[in-house]
Amino acid sequence: MSRLVNEAKSAKQFLMINGEKVEATNYASLYSPYSGEEIAQIAMADKKLTVQAIDAAYNARGVMAKMPAYHRADILEKVAALLKEKAIEAAEIITRESAKPIMFAKAEVARTIETYKFSAEEAKRIHGETIPFDAAVGGVGRMGYTLREPIGVIGAITPFNFPMNLVAHKVAPAIAAGNTIVLKPASQTPLSALFIAEIFEEAGLPAGVLNVITGPGSTVGEAIVEDDRVNMVTFTGSPNVGIGIRNKAGLKKTTLELGSNSALIIDKDIDIDQIIDRCIMGAFSNQGQVCISLQRVYAHEKVYEEFVAKFTEAAKKLKIGDPLESDTYISALISKGEVERVLGLIEETKSGHATIAAGGKLQDGILEPTIITDADHTLNISCQEAFAPVVVVNKVGSVEEAIEQVNDSRFGLQAGIYTNNVRNALYASQELHVGGVMINDVPTYRVDQMPYGGVKESGTGREGIKYAVEEMTELKLVVWNQS
Ligand code: SIN
Repeated sequence: MSRLVNEAKSAKQFLMINGEKVEATNYASLYSPYSGEEIAQIAMADKKLTVQAIDAAYNARGVMAKMPAYHRADILEKVAALLKEKAIEAAEIITRESAKPIMFAKAEVARTIETYKFSAEEAKRIHGETIPFDAAVGGVGRMGYTLREPIGVIGAITPFNFPMNLVAHKVAPAIAAGNTIVLKPASQTPLSALFIAEIFEEAGLPAGVLNVITGPGSTVGEAIVEDDRVNMVTFTGSPNVGIGIRNKAGLKKTTLELGSNSALIIDKDIDIDQIIDRCIMGAFSNQGQVCISLQRVYAHEKVYEEFVAKFTEAAKKLKIGDPLESDTYISALISKGEVERVLGLIEETKSGHATIAAGGKLQDGILEPTIITDADHTLNISCQEAFAPVVVVNKVGSVEEAIEQVNDSRFGLQAGIYTNNVRNALYASQELHVGGVMINDVPTYRVDQMPYGGVKESGTGREGIKYAVEEMTELKLVVWNQS
């Protein structure tokens, strides 16, 4: 068993402020979503401690702004190397606090290492461009260029579903760009963030650059969003909270990665056997608690029956149980409240014509992978974000009809289409109103350097290291008058 998890049983966790491990006045027990056992005592920061963390980040911003690119890259490379050494321990921490099955936790750690490596590389290629001033009559005799400067203090509020890699997606580009950070991890998954803070300390990050504050969102989150010294807020989570942040953020920059009810189109010419494994992964990895989880399938009527039969058969074979067992595919949702919410969504489908083709009930408190057919598109299971191992499969007569259905959503993060027809692929890439279109893959596809973000209620701004660095820097123009 890992050091941090062992210690966590007896030791109180800490806040990281100005390079010091700081205690709070109040603590709350953190329980395993799978077993219900207490796994740690988490510091509940109040407003005063949060302001101290912002003070530290504000005071450290000069150090970071002056730190050369090679040095920022070096720290990020060291973090990647240290995380590689501690990869098993890191995966166990993710699994214990979130019930993410260990096979997916290991994959998350591998991705997190890549995210830090990409950020180290990106730190070395932050640059502006020269502007052709003499293209305007008034520009003759001038030359000029842009610079990208750090934005300053970044408030990062991260979710429970990828507690290590989505922390990395905010912290790593922020450091690559020369900023300082106040990080509030999700209440259920603070251990991964604290573990990374210790790794940064070992890698030589100066005091005050990364501050980690655990505690209630209403206190800590609000203090971060409302403080004038915080120049940008980057948030991943629910649309309601994201919209609340946007409303309070004033002139701060915001990057918001919000929800989705991501969809996949399956064209009539597809060999269904070839896509079942990807669809299973897309729908059920991490219990469907992924913003780009496959939630809606629109299958052409020529392949619909075959797809439902094979998808259902495969879903029923998935191993449900202890997330620490190496072959477990599905484990507990993040909280009992979430289980109740999702069961409510499933129950609602029973009042109409929908059929529950697989799952729909609990096995020892764990929601079975669930497939629903013939669900009306107005049902909440279709139009809300399920964030659970639940998929709705619909029959369509054409790709055009499927695209209309996919676009009939408040959300627009990513969508996928399986087709062998180039015209349909091109048409889908043009017509789907989303941040990313996956041709011949599920919408759940993501590697960490690609631009990632949505339209509509799925959010604003883009992550993916290069794109996050752009969001986390200010463009400054310099003009030389040569006349
Ligand atoms: C998310 O849930 O937004 C992140 C998905 C991923 O990184 O794979």
